[in-house]
Amino acid sequence: MTKEKGQPQAYGDESYWDNRYSQDVGSFDWYQRYGGLAPLINMYMPKTNNLLMVGCGNAVISEDMVNDGYQTIMNIDISQVVIDAMIEKYKDMPQLQYQRMDVRSLGFKDGEFDSILDKGMFDSLMCGSSAPTSAASMIKEVRRVLKPGGVYMLITYGDPRVRIPHLKSEEAPWEIKLHVLPRPGSKRAHEGTSRPITEPVSLGEDLTLGPTFKLEDPDLHYVYVCIKRGGNAVKRPSGDAKVDIKLCAKSQLISNYEV
Ligand SMILES: C[S@@+](CC[C@H](N)C(=O)[O-])C[C@H]1O[C@@H](n2cnc3c(N)ncnc32)[C@H](O)[C@@H]1O
Repeated sequence: MTKEKGQPQAYGDESYWDNRYSQDVGSFDWYQRYGGLAPLINMYMPKTNNLLMVGCGNAVISEDMVNDGYQTIMNIDISQVVIDAMIEKYKDMPQLQYQRMDVRSLGFKDGEFDSILDKGMFDSLMCGSSAPTSAASMIKEVRRVLKPGGVYMLITYGDPRVRIPHLKSEEAPWEIKLHVLPRPGSKRAHEGTSRPITEPVSLGEDLTLGPTFKLEDPDLHYVYVCIKRGGNAVKRPSGDAKVDIKLCAKSQLISNYEV
């Protein structure tokens, strides 16, 4: 997906997605496949969780998660075209449910889900018209349908300076953990890294990530794990208090962030 600044607004439009899915009958996973994300998803989202996948598109990630033991995933997307195709494709996989829904106005009860996964959905809203308003409506809805202690995981190309301000909540703050992983096929991915992706990255108060990461690095994807305060339903990563020395040379770097 292209960056927000100066880019066309099509990714935020329902008609754009309906058109795209009418022409493209295959499947496609934006940014990352389940294999690359599984350590993180498994760490924060127990397989018994009641899960919501927002902006599911025609990605295979939900199927891969069910094959890995996840029990129920509700998938929503604004495009009726893709929802119809996915209902047909997965008619023999009852663990996967699909409904056409706008993430800015979710037809679910308060606190209905333990976990919400978003891979590229928030990013597409950020490419639309009225992006800040859409983002605020989405975050409000996501918080509403999450249980206390539940987790909203956002997988995005957006670095902390362009994402953290939008994740702010008018109600109680989130606890946010940030993980960084290389874009598949990129130079960074080929070089490999000694640090596991399950280790959160420290975030400076100025929303930088220390000397190792350049913000706006096109070879990186960011995973924001936003934990709704007020419950203990979430399994915390065992190493979440550890901070990578290389990434945290400066004392102003902090391991958790609250907005
Ligand atoms: C970049 S694609 C990501 C698809 C999929 N999550 C993946 O990882 O491959 C963004 C998806 O968000 C959907 N979308 C856009 N605006 C939406 C909205 N307001 N509510 C729900 N889905 C929306 C689009 O139809 C599209 O399928």
